[in-house]
This record gives sequence, structure tokens and C-alpha cells, in this order.
Amino acid sequence: MEMKSEILTVLRESGDYISGQELCNHFHVSRTAVWKAMKQLQEEGYTIEAVRNKGYILKGNPDVLSLDELKSRIHNRWAGREIYFYEETGSTNIDAKRLGEEGAPHGAVVVADKQNAGRGRRGRAWESPAGKDIYFTILLRPDCQPSQAAGLTLAMALSVVQAVEKECGVEAGIKWPNDVVVHGKKVCGILTELSLERDYIQHVVTGVGINVNMDVMPQEIAETATSLFLESGKRVARAALLQAVLREFECNYDRYAADLSMESMMEEYNAHLVNRDRQVRILDPKGEWEGTARGINAAGELLVENGDGETVAVYAGEVSVRGIYGYV
Ligand code: BTN
Repeated sequence: MEMKSEILTVLRESGDYISGQELCNHFHVSRTAVWKAMKQLQEEGYTIEAVRNKGYILKGNPDVLSLDELKSRIHNRWAGREIYFYEETGSTNIDAKRLGEEGAPHGAVVVADKQNAGRGRRGRAWESPAGKDIYFTILLRPDCQPSQAAGLTLAMALSVVQAVEKECGVEAGIKWPNDVVVHGKKVCGILTELSLERDYIQHVVTGVGINVNMDVMPQEIAETATSLFLESGKRVARAALLQAVLREFECNYDRYAADLSMESMMEEYNAHLVNRDRQVRILDPKGEWEGTARGINAAGELLVENGDGETVAVYAGEVSVRGIYGYV
């Protein structure tokens, strides 16, 4: 790891003064080199105080999104072991696909502060202004059939819920298959894309957009979308939230990969499912119908009871689900 990001890790984890001498010994560099690194970090937005005879201390938790900040936080076994950060890009999903083709490892993550061509599901655009939100994509190399890949998106939705609850202190839910909602409005969307070759998965990219610190939602989406700041009243540092999402995802993905199913996560997922026991409209290309959503099965399909008392398993790739009284 680079010295600057390692200094950040050390300062953050100690929460106390660290003497310049200690840092010199640790990194085998001169005092001037340490001082220069501190100066650069201050220029990047960190409040680092230097006190004679005590050393350096990091104050506060600023919302800095940079490669150093991410590297100083993300220390997972595989999720985010390789990180790419762009101030600005087209779409992190497209970047991750390119990396996938170039042979980047399972778990490589692309993060951007701003996207110029952010993409949502069903060909929609994903508004991606700078400085407020999280846009990232993780490259995955699962050993599964294309039909089993839905679990990856569900596992990501659960990971975002777990991270949001821990980091923001608000309750979060899931609108099947993969929207994360707070107080009935969407705060996060997930777009998974498979690269196939003759029906085999080459790699998968799972892209996540989280509305974190927006103070006003664009009018077109204000009725159904919100931000974590608007719902919790607290600003969270994006890097800390992303760190938490990746930590949860590493664990949830491994649970999924063990039997290529949602079996071990089903109960937790269903406990957060906001559609549960609600009337939903199934937008099936073969015909629309209504029923009561009951929860997912191990394949990640939504079990919906129709008017005849039969339970039908609905597959995410084929249909879309709407609440009949609004978004949820
Ligand atoms: C949705 O429509 O709900 C899915 C939105 C997914 C947006 C994310 S932002 C990071 C990644 N890059 C993209 O272009 N899209 C996904």
C-alpha cells in the first residue's frame, strides 16, 4: 500500500496522536517525507493537526472520496483488493466490463465521484452528479449458470441494507428484486450485467448507485426517491459507507457461492422485504396480473399468491413488480 493511504489508516484507527518519529520508523522514511505526506493529505481535505511533542492527529471524518481514502479503509480478502477510482467517468459498469475483459481479478472495484452516462435498469439513465453520492461497480467471476446469477444482485441489495443500517442508523428495506428503500422511497439501485460467451458466464459486473448526501432530490424523482441524508438527517462519509457495503458483500457473496443459492440469506432478505404480504402487480410480458407477495425462495424468485390461492414463483429477469398503491 502506498504511504499516504497507510498513514490515513494508522491515524484513523488510533484516533490519537501518533508521533512523527514513530511514522518515520514504521515507513523507513525521513521526517520531511512524513511532513510532506501530511501536507498533501491536508490539501486533500483532511484536518490533521500537528502538536509539538505529541505528533499528528486526524480530526473528524470528512467526506473525501479518493483512491487514498478508499485504500486506507478497504482491507477485505477479495472485495475491493484492487480498486480503481475516477473523479469522472462515463459509467463504472462499462469500466468494470473493460477491466473484466482485460483480466482483472474477481472483486476488482471501480468507483467514481461523477458519471456522465450513468445507466439504470430498463435502459433508463442514472443521474450521477459529483460530490454527493456513491457510484461503484464490482467485477465478479462466479462459477454459476446465467440463471443463477440473480442471487448476486439480491446479495448486493442485502449488503447495502446491512451497511446503511449500521452506518446511518436508519431502517432500510428491499423492494424486490434489488431496490433499497428507506421510509418507502428508493435510496439505491443496482444494475447487474452478465458477459456471456456461448451461454457461459465470462464475468459479471454489479453496479450500485446510492443516494447519500443529496439535500434536494431532482423534481422528476422526488416522489419515489430520497437520499440517506434526507431520511436520517446525518451526513455520512461516502468512503465509510462503501467500506461497509463491500465488507458485508464479501461475506454475503461467499454465502451465496457456497451453494449458488439464496438459502442461507433468505430469512434475512425476507425480513427486509418491503413488498412482503403486500398486493403487487406483476408486469409479465405474457400478461399482467396481481397477487400478494410472500417472500423469496432459495432461487431468489419472488413467491406471489394469485387470486386462486396458488403460489407462483416470479423470476426477476422476466418481470417487473409494482406496488398497487404506489412505488412499494
Ligand atoms: C436502477 O435503475 O435502479 C439501477 C441503477 C444502477 C446505477 C449504478 S451507478 C454505478 C453503476 N454504473 C452505472 O452506469 N450504473 C450503476
